[in-house]
Amino acid sequence: MNKILLLGPPGAGKGTQADLICNFLKIPKISTGDMLREAIASRNALGQKVSGIMKSGKLVSDEIIIELILDRIAQPDCELGFLFDGGIRTVGQGNLCEVNNIKFTHVIEIQVTDAVIIDRMSGRRVHPGSGRNYHLIYQPPKQGGLDDVTGEPLIQRDDDKPETVKHRLNVYQEETKPLVDYYQLKADQSSLKYISINGAQDVEKVFEDINQHL
Ligand code: AP5
Repeated sequence: MNKILLLGPPGAGKGTQADLICNFLKIPKISTGDMLREAIASRNALGQKVSGIMKSGKLVSDEIIIELILDRIAQPDCELGFLFDGGIRTVGQGNLCEVNNIKFTHVIEIQVTDAVIIDRMSGRRVHPGSGRNYHLIYQPPKQGGLDDVTGEPLIQRDDDKPETVKHRLNVYQEETKPLVDYYQLKADQSSLKYISINGAQDVEKVFEDINQHL
């Protein structure tokens, strides 16, 4: 059974690769970012709590995230495995996964430089209903501004403004990068596979490199 965690800075291509891997392995994609954005769009209590935090590019608390994750993986479609699209972002969340017996089979780190990220984020467009990602130049939709599957309009995310992206990159270095050592150490001590991938290649080539390890 595959239980996969994708790690990498904002804009590394986690969501893009998550869709390809999940389609290939027939497992559900769990994106805490998408779940939180849905909560904000539906204006529920969780959405009100996290809206300002996400707009500023900060991280939501470990407690909120672990509750979301536990609820989600208890659903029947996760019985045969799942993929977390960046769902674990702090060592605290990694520890909470252990405590709750969530053990990954693969941790895949997608590596890209800050310059590439800033370029990608400025051109990203998203289908809010599904979380499908596009890029104005590198991965354009078939019809300008519209989702390929539903034909609905694409949007630019609130947290893709250049100053917020810079802040998110700092947050990644400070809070999420320590997870690289955390999971590399776990891979030395258990059957977990830790895989580093060069994310600064074409979408198809990145997927091909990942696929060799699955
Ligand atoms: P989230 O939605 O998860 O965002 P993120 O991790 O910052 O990552 P992104 O979705 O921005 O980028 P991505 O790596 O998926 O790249 P993508 O494939 O879109 O989280 C948002 C916020 O939610 C956080 O800031 C935080 O506040 C909160 N949150 C979520 N989870 C949390 C947690 N566990 N704990 C605490 N807080 C949490 O690609 C980017 C662009 O590049 C796209 O336009 C795409 O088309 C293009 N692209 C992708 N790959 C390539 C390629 N190979 N070549 C050229 N272009 C490419």
